[in-house]
Amino acid sequence: MRHRHPRSASLTAVAGLLAWTVLLASCPFPAPGAATDAMACSAKSQELLQTVAAIIEPGKGILAADESTGTAGKRLASVGLPNTEDNRRALREMLFAAPGFEKHISGVILYEETLFQESSSGGRLVDALTEQGVVLGIKVDIGTVPLPGSPFELYTQGLDGLRQRCDKYYAAGARFAKWRAVIPIDAPSGLPSALGVQSAAEGLAKYARICQDAGLVPIVEPEVLSDGAHSLEACEAVTTRVLSAVFRELLAHGVELEAMLLKPNMVLPGASARPAPPAAVAAATRRVLRRTVPPAVPGVLFLSGGQTEGEATEHLRLINELGSNPWYVSFSYGRALQASALKAWSGKPGNVKAGQAQLLQRAAANGAAALARPAAA
Ligand code: 13P
Repeated sequence: MRHRHPRSASLTAVAGLLAWTVLLASCPFPAPGAATDAMACSAKSQELLQTVAAIIEPGKGILAADESTGTAGKRLASVGLPNTEDNRRALREMLFAAPGFEKHISGVILYEETLFQESSSGGRLVDALTEQGVVLGIKVDIGTVPLPGSPFELYTQGLDGLRQRCDKYYAAGARFAKWRAVIPIDAPSGLPSALGVQSAAEGLAKYARICQDAGLVPIVEPEVLSDGAHSLEACEAVTTRVLSAVFRELLAHGVELEAMLLKPNMVLPGASARPAPPAAVAAATRRVLRRTVPPAVPGVLFLSGGQTEGEATEHLRLINELGSNPWYVSFSYGRALQASALKAWSGKPGNVKAGQAQLLQRAAANGAAALARPAAA
């Protein structure tokens, strides 16, 4: 049975927002690089907290539209379109110009091309977002390569020159960033290895610290991949290991937990294993988060990771219905927000409204799932 209590949900949401306003006013943690006894509160720290508060607005989440050129090509090919700059622009224009977009989407993660791209009518493509008060984010990793020492695992590149790129993105209006580390599960091959987990955690921590120093809120995304036939329990064990290592490294690198957001995978059986009941997915996911994610972290915004649109919404709702959480729990979906919109649009100007309607429907459903709370006793 589904229970939704919008009134108590919105009260909790208001209480959360009030807590954030108090935090903003007091700014209790030291600025990056400051001596811990100084408790200095730089303008940058204040700005980071303001960005976080704007993103974790109750009932809202993030649209991940940061597909690299190659991945965007695969999405376009699925509706028979060639991977041209014009088609990538048209897809993103269709999404960003959806009327009422900002009702349930507070931030958009962009690929570099989009941040600097002109719209078809001449201005900047991202103007459609900033005019609606949507916060601009930017993917700053530059993809993965085989991990030296464990070639069946991947590590994420992009640290060289990252500070300079962050400064450039900040100047272009970006206020948050994303870096994705990928962790495979393959028990017979001993994956993930200790080296793979440590390397993913260190990369995320270095990236997060550089972003905060540059005034960008880092989204920390350690994605335990769903490829394979592993069990829900195996995913739970690996996700626990990974998140523990990630938070150890974030603290070691002096990352302000109050000024970051976590983008984890949900705990699911492998894509080629038998699906688990949604309630089991929700319970395992929440258990892992409660064991590993400090309450100082303001928001947990899930990736969808190959779930269908319906599954991603249902799981998010169930996680929020299980009990109160110290963090705002919402979505940062790519495919689970875009799949139906892409199909309905299919590159035809006459279908723009139909595509936008699909996006808005998914965003509204996920916004409601972010506000779901346990049934009153
Ligand atoms: P999916 O929701 O499609 O997994 O994408 C989210 C994302 O940003 C992956 O890095």
